Amino acid sequence: SDAVPFYGRHQAGITTPAQDRLHFVAFDVTTTERAELVDLLQEWTAAAARMTQGRDAGAFGAVGGAPEAPPDDTGEALGLPASGLTLTVGFGPSLFDERFGLAGRRPPALADLPAFAGDGLLPEISGGDICVQACAHDPQVAVHAIRNLARIGFGRVTVRYSQLGFGRTSSTSRTQATPRNLMGFKDGTNNLKLEDTAMLRDHLWAAPGDGPAWMDGGAYLVTRKIRMHIETWDRAPLAEQEAIFGRDKGEGAPLTGKAEFDEPDFAKTGLGGEPVIPRDAHVRLAHPTSHGGARLLRRGYNYVDGSDGLGRLDAGLFFMAYQRDPRRQFVPVQQALAATDPLNEYIKHVSSGLFACPPGVVDASDHWGRALF
Ligand code: HEM
Repeated sequence: SDAVPFYGRHQAGITTPAQDRLHFVAFDVTTTERAELVDLLQEWTAAAARMTQGRDAGAFGAVGGAPEAPPDDTGEALGLPASGLTLTVGFGPSLFDERFGLAGRRPPALADLPAFAGDGLLPEISGGDICVQACAHDPQVAVHAIRNLARIGFGRVTVRYSQLGFGRTSSTSRTQATPRNLMGFKDGTNNLKLEDTAMLRDHLWAAPGDGPAWMDGGAYLVTRKIRMHIETWDRAPLAEQEAIFGRDKGEGAPLTGKAEFDEPDFAKTGLGGEPVIPRDAHVRLAHPTSHGGARLLRRGYNYVDGSDGLGRLDAGLFFMAYQRDPRRQFVPVQQALAATDPLNEYIKHVSSGLFACPPGVVDASDHWGRALF
């Protein structure tokens, strides 16, 4: 079957080979009762365990309950397989305020992100107390899952914002071909991957001693909705496009190599003594050697939210990256990119999210956030 196991040491949906589709949601908690929030997390976990195995959200299902009651599943996934659905939960900094007595349990690594040059963040699509990332090969399955979690959460949480993504922009396994982003470039070539066991230990999973024990085996998620000015990009010459990334558009090879997975040679110079991979090329600015070895597990998606009423597609990249400590990983990389990346002429960061994604749910007696509360 194409069901991804729900239970495990780590949450699914992080190193799981990136599925084709995304529905991401951020909730605000509206109840002020800690016990109600914990009940909700238990109900959500049970529904998530069922839905990821291709079953209805509730025990009666879309059509098996009493005719006088609203069904405990909304029905649009009836007859559809699990489709590789994963549901990954994370807790935002705002959950750790005075409401639920969690202030002392906020991980130091969940430090608010600094402002970055050029940010154009919209608060209504940023932040959130709790996020859920639904990934699946079928968009209907991903949407069904988020919709049912929102339905179950009625009266205790509200949807702050949600985002659909239609095409993965990363590979997170060496078994996957590298997909392309909306700028037409292969994206995810030099990404942390499922098979990189030692690097996942060093760069992805929070380890004992990193912070509060409830996060051991978890990871931190940074989301950035990055709008692309694609009409402007489409008028940029091919050579400029390739210089911006430092890779060629056809193969995805570094400008100093021939094949996609050739190592970039940052020292190589061309005519006039200038480096072949420009000093401000995206892959140079973002490369681990520029940041003391820091790496990210990128897991983003292309999005098109229709058009903007001004004759332009409202399109871009919903960037998502998992890591052990954003203070040492996302933040320095994004500071470098925000300062000098020539890509900035073609993009705008319009939303930002930061979440502590706890370790996996180990079995049916466990639930999302159990060790936190
Ligand atoms: C590499 C595109 C934003 C971090 C790449 C590559 C492309 C790309 C085409 C080369 C292929 C690869 O190794 O994946 C984009 C686009 C962006 C964007 C279109 C915005 C719309 C970001 C942001 C970050 C980031 C915000 C993190 C702050 C990285 C990293 C690499 C990379 C770490 C790998 C560099 C290496 O080790 O070679 N990106 N990227 N990117 N990007 Fe981005």
